[in-house]
Amino acid sequence: MKHVWDIDPEIGEAILKEAERQNSKLELIASENFVSHAVLEAMGSVMTNKYAEGYPGKRYYGGCEWVDVAESLAIERAKKLFNAEHANVQPLSGVPANLAVYTAFLKPGDKIFGLALSHGGHLSHGYKVSITGKLYDAFQYTVDPDTETINYDALRELAKEHKPKLIMTGASAYPRTLHWDKFREIADEIGAYFVADIAHIAGLVVAGLHPNPVPLADAVTTTTHKTLKGPRGAIILCKEEHAKAIDKAVFPGLQGGPHMHIIAAKAVAFKEAMTDEFKEYQTQIVKNAKAMEEEFKSLGWRLVAGGTDTHLLLVDVKSKGITGKQAEEALDRANITVNKNTIPFDKEKPFIASGIRVGTPALTTRGMKEDEMKRIVRLIDKVLTNIDDEKVYEEVRGEVKELTDAFPLYSELREELKKQRRLDA
Ligand SMILES: Cc1ncc(COP(=O)(O)O)c(C=O)c1O
Repeated sequence: MKHVWDIDPEIGEAILKEAERQNSKLELIASENFVSHAVLEAMGSVMTNKYAEGYPGKRYYGGCEWVDVAESLAIERAKKLFNAEHANVQPLSGVPANLAVYTAFLKPGDKIFGLALSHGGHLSHGYKVSITGKLYDAFQYTVDPDTETINYDALRELAKEHKPKLIMTGASAYPRTLHWDKFREIADEIGAYFVADIAHIAGLVVAGLHPNPVPLADAVTTTTHKTLKGPRGAIILCKEEHAKAIDKAVFPGLQGGPHMHIIAAKAVAFKEAMTDEFKEYQTQIVKNAKAMEEEFKSLGWRLVAGGTDTHLLLVDVKSKGITGKQAEEALDRANITVNKNTIPFDKEKPFIASGIRVGTPALTTRGMKEDEMKRIVRLIDKVLTNIDDEKVYEEVRGEVKELTDAFPLYSELREELKKQRRLDA
């Protein structure tokens, strides 16, 4: 059997180096995670070869008996995990999933509401440079200036004034609990669709650590690769009454052949998500975020919305005189990976930003707990308060190595890749 190394050593090298990068750095990007070998295996399987336009039992191609098994399992497991009446597991990623929901419910030009990007929302919730902001008449709501959380009374007033046809909820950088019942009430008062995008918090929802919007929303979208710890992709969950419209919007509306290898991997991830171990893992994600919150606060850092209920924190680094960009770059030099992030009412442009977003899912997957989180916050503090001190970077890199060595990632896989390279040499 020939490996990537035998055919394409340049890509072989890039894959090995990426595996080593993931192992040797502290990954705090809130939207990232490390999937299991089982999920990786399904993604790299022969399911990638199969065209299967349509849905299980109703395909436009022959030979679909085994991909039908994979997709049916993914659908059944998604329904069970989220207590959903209907699941579509074909969306290629989060943005196409959101677009599919909009096209199912709306006509171009219809008015939609979405949380502003700079207040924690996502591009695909109607931001002006996204197709979702061009195709629809999008109005962006913001968080409350005092609490930095959603003010549902203010939102109700705005909704009554603007009368959107669809209220998009959910976020990419919102550290607090979202109150779906209040969104539902507001949508009902104006006769709008209520859609929830739980891309970030899906794992917490499955584990019962965040309220589940599925029983209340007209449709719920989620990526599968964040807290859910599955392959890069998305799913849509909805009530039976919307099933036909959603399925038609995904295929043939927006996509051709589904990526069957990814759907098989989604099924595997959903099976993993049904275990007690997954519940414990999600519980630890939240405990780890709380531990970080405590340590940041004790070191005098201002946290947006006063802290977190979830897997992520937004740290206002401008409050200590540096920009998000400077903080991201400095931490990167110390082998700590975060992303700069705007904070509500930010005066900086998104590419500079006043904050950093810090999330615990990936490090929790490595087995790290509260003590490690507190130590990492102290390392972050050390770098950001000594941004021009070369010696500090060296010291912190040494401590990061101690941590990553103690919680290794993909050890067997990295060994296997190195063995293949030696064979090739
Ligand atoms: C809330 C939310 N929705 C949608 C997406 C988009 O997902 P994708 O990058 O898979 O298109 C993201 C990605 O970060 C997200 O945070």
